[in-house]
Amino acid sequence: MPTVLVTGSSRGIGLEFARRYAALGWDVLATCRTPSAAADLQQLALQNTKVKVLALDVVSETSIAALVQALNGAAIDLLINNAGIGGAGIELGAMDLPRWRTLFETNVLGPAKLTDALLPNVLAGSLRKVVSVSSTLGSIARSTGGNYAYRSSKAALNMTMRSMALDLIKQGVISVLMSPGIVDTDFTRGGRMPKIPVQDSVSGMMGVIDALKSEHAGQFLRYSGETVEW
Ligand SMILES: NC(=O)c1ccc[n+]([C@@H]2O[C@H](COP(=O)([O-])OP(=O)(O)OC[C@H]3O[C@@H](n4cnc5c(N)ncnc54)[C@H](OP(=O)(O)O)[C@@H]3O)[C@@H](O)[C@H]2O)c1
Repeated sequence: MPTVLVTGSSRGIGLEFARRYAALGWDVLATCRTPSAAADLQQLALQNTKVKVLALDVVSETSIAALVQALNGAAIDLLINNAGIGGAGIELGAMDLPRWRTLFETNVLGPAKLTDALLPNVLAGSLRKVVSVSSTLGSIARSTGGNYAYRSSKAALNMTMRSMALDLIKQGVISVLMSPGIVDTDFTRGGRMPKIPVQDSVSGMMGVIDALKSEHAGQFLRYSGETVEW
């Protein structure tokens, strides 16, 4: 069975990816910042021996290097760059630059560095797929104002991973950006907008991921399969 590595799998979309690929019989490398605090993920790993919990803080180069070492060249068929944070409260009159920098480190530099560091593992896999979870809030064309920090981080993620995808396809790796929709997780807690259940978002994304072909490399795709304008 294939192997998937998921970042930020302690909760929300990442945890659901881990659950669902494990249910399909995949080997799941479920990474999270603090394994001892990831109760739901630990429970999943107890119930399913296909799930291996590994520590990874995507903003730490030391943590990324330790993960690479722990994997010891193991093949990864599908890498899902899911970990991410929001930027609520950074706005006109409240330019919290340290928080904005952390947002960029988490949402842009982390996935870029991790994808580069795990490229030998992805090349050793059979499927050779990389998915980075972005957001329609990162679409410049669709901006309605506000949320500068989060929007700019996802727009930068889009540019970084699209450009990397155009290089990676030459090595047979299909890399895409995905929008999960507005999903009912801790991330959107308190927001009054309509949300979809995490199961629906992840089901949709898994269908799209399953159907990825080389012509999709570098695209920005919704969980329902349509392309999102940049
Ligand atoms: N929910 C939505 O509506 C929505 C919409 C568009 C895009 N997204 C994107 O989808 C992704 C997942 O969101 P979610 O809704 O599942 O959010 P969530 O429930 O808040 O979960 C975020 C996950 O990211 C992890 N994380 C944060 N910083 C990290 C770091 N430095 N290193 C490793 N892991 C880290 C968190 O770990 P801890 O438990 O350690 O904090 C947690 O597992 C994010 O990239 C988000 O931007 C979500």
